[in-house]
Formats: sequence, C-alpha cells, structure tokens
Amino acid sequence: MAWHKCCRRIAFQRFPCDSRAGQTRSTHSSALHFYQNKQLDLYAAKEAHRLTLRQLVFFGRSMDEERLIKSANYVRTELPVRIAHRIRDLQALPYIVVTQEGVAKVYELYWLAFEKFRRYPPVMNLEDNQKFCEFLENILNEHAPVIPSLSLGLSLSSPHLSPELLDSFMHRMLVSRISRRVLAEHHLALSKAVMASGKDSENEHHVGIIYPGLSVKRSIDKCTNVLRERTHAVEDDNGVLVSNRGWPEVAIEGHLDTKFAFIREHLEYILFELLKNAMRASVLKHRNKPDLPKIIATIVAGDNDVGIRISDQGGGLSTTRINSPSDLFSFSHERNATRLDIARLGALRSASSRGIKATVAEQLDHWPSRENDGLSGDNPERDAGIGPHPRIGLGLPMSNIFATYFGGSLQLVSMDGWGVDVYLRLPKLGTNLEGIEL
Ligand code: COI
Repeated sequence: MAWHKCCRRIAFQRFPCDSRAGQTRSTHSSALHFYQNKQLDLYAAKEAHRLTLRQLVFFGRSMDEERLIKSANYVRTELPVRIAHRIRDLQALPYIVVTQEGVAKVYELYWLAFEKFRRYPPVMNLEDNQKFCEFLENILNEHAPVIPSLSLGLSLSSPHLSPELLDSFMHRMLVSRISRRVLAEHHLALSKAVMASGKDSENEHHVGIIYPGLSVKRSIDKCTNVLRERTHAVEDDNGVLVSNRGWPEVAIEGHLDTKFAFIREHLEYILFELLKNAMRASVLKHRNKPDLPKIIATIVAGDNDVGIRISDQGGGLSTTRINSPSDLFSFSHERNATRLDIARLGALRSASSRGIKATVAEQLDHWPSRENDGLSGDNPERDAGIGPHPRIGLGLPMSNIFATYFGGSLQLVSMDGWGVDVYLRLPKLGTNLEGIEL
C-alpha cells in the first residue's frame, strides 16, 4: 500500500473506538481496530445486490409474513455491505479532507451503523420484525445530519480536491445513501401495511413506498398549489426582500393522463425544487410588472420514459459564478463559486447539527406556510419542526441524484436573458437497476 494511503487509513481507523470518551490507546484497542477492519474487508469484498423498481414492486405485492421476514433479512444483510463500500471510499480520501468538519462525523455514523447491522441477529418472526423496524427508524433518524455534514466537509475541502474527484465522490455517497434509505423505508412501509391489515400489504395506491400508478399531473398540481398558497416573500441573493406578491401560475400541457410506477417522494422532491426555482426566478425578473408570465410544464409519455419539461421566463442562469447550468449540481467551488459562500456554509453548519432528511416533507418544513397543505400528508417527517428555508444549495444536486438513481436524467438549458427549460426524464418501465456503484 502506498505510504500516503496507509496514513489515511490509520487516521480514520481511530474513529470507531476513540469515539468513546477517555478510551486509552492499548494493545486491546489495536486488536479491536484490526478485528473491525477485517470485518470491514469481508463486507467491502461483497457486491451490493442491486434491485430494480419493478423487483421492489413485485416482491412487495401479495406480502405475507414469510415474505416480510425475507424482506427484513435482505435489508439486514444488504445494508452493511453498501455501508462498507462507502466507508472504504471515505478511507481513500486525502488526509486534509478527512480532518474537515463534517466528514469525520459521517465516517463515525457509518462505522456505528455498519457495526449495528453486522451484529443484528436474524429476524425470525413478526415480533422480531417489529423490533427491527424500530431499529431501522432510529438509524434513519440518526443519519439525518449526513447530507449537510458531507456537503459542509466537502465544500471546505474543495480547494484541496479536483472537481472531478470531489463530484464523483459526492455522487457515490449520495446515490448510495438514497439506495439504503429506499430499502429501509420500503421495508418499513411494507411492515406497516402488513401489521395494519394482518395479511396483505397491497394498498390501492402504493406498494411499500412505490406508487405503481403515480399521476405526474397530480404531483405537479400538488407542488404548484403548495408553493402558490404559501407566503411569497422573495429575497435576492443578498437577502434583501424584493417582492411579496403572489407567485406565477403553472400551465400543464401534453399527456395529462400519464401515470407510471415511481417513488412519489422522489418525484415530488424534484418537482417541488424545479417549480420553486422557476417561480422564484420569474418573480425576481418581473418584479416591477403587473403580470407574471406563466410557467409551462409539459408532460410526455414516451415508450420507455416519462419526460417532464418545466419552462420559465425568469431570465435564465447567466451569472459569473457558474460556467454551465450543470455546474449547479457540483459541490466544487471551481465549478460553482457559491459553494464557499460564508452564509451558505453557516446554513450548512446549522443544518448539519440538527439534521435534514432531503425529503419533500422536509422541503415543506423549510418553507414558511400559512397552513399545512396535505402534500405527502401521511409522512411523520412533516413534524420535524425545522425552521425557515436555509439556502444551502442542496435542492438541485439532490434532485439530480433522485433523477439518476433509477437511470433517469435532469438537464437544465438556459436561454440567458429569457428563461430556463429543465428537462426531467424518468424511466417508466422500472427495469433499470439502482445506479449505485459497487
Ligand atoms: C443514511 O441515511 O445515511 C443511511 O445510511 C441510512 C441507513 C443506514 C438506513
């Protein structure tokens, strides 16, 4: 092993044991490190067992106790493999990165989760599964700081990493995180349905967290209504209030009856973010005019994909701070100069200490409201009680990750001086494997 790589490993290997206060260096702790890293090697040598959306639906249909227990044990054994791969990624970071605020926190969370899953006993019956679900819920909550912490740590490290390395690392970490949360949340939703009905998890509208007949128009309408019904203060990039008027209408055209199987929370997260950006830009650009131009959402159901285009007249993306629209997805300050803005780092720091989950429910919690709206109404994360919307610059990168997870894409095209067209493409057959790296 190269000298520098060896040093990095040693730097990181301290964390899992040193997290306990007052732990002294001893032969015992070295042996423990050695043992834990051996375990990590074993898990990191395994390939993740990736799934398609269709497999998740098929397996979740006609759920009974036996299948639920199978699902629990798949999650129990699959998650430590996926976490082990990402611990290895963290260990390969340069030393200067691992010492940044936020990165060590994520490393420690991952080690703890890895150890907990690895040691978790097999789930044998519904009673065990109930306990396993509580365990999963706790870990999902404990990991709420992961995205802002990583984003903070990697933003601070940006001067020390090439943009390619930084962005590919973040992409792997974030897609893998989505994948783990999907498996855990799908199992929780299946369990909830089985427990509620006593036998059958199949619900009229969803199988676990997947909606086999998700209406695109309905989701656009919901996101639009939420945004338009809420308070309308718009600040410019310096935090100065420039408008408090109503937000623009959204006209929906194209194949209005398009339905496909997808994770509703992911689709609505993306739509909410895109519509919010389009509305905000339109208000800023036309703040002195009596009428706001409508935003046009076009839905197209192709043979293999669902396409959604959102067009605004908000003036486009012309700014000296990015070179191309795709730089908005980047975590590198070389591609996106806003990444090192002091206000953003401060907002990330506070998001990192209280945690965020990057769900549509949370987008709403961040959004000042007059009243609750009913979007994702049955989601307990609604009650997280998180303060006003911090502009931490994660909405677009996360939307890109949600779009690409099952093989879709998100592309922004700017007509500088006029507006932006955003093209979202999502596969509709559900046959693509999860886009995680092994
Ligand atoms: C995460 O949210 O980062 C996770 O890895 C969650 C998973 C352990 C259930």
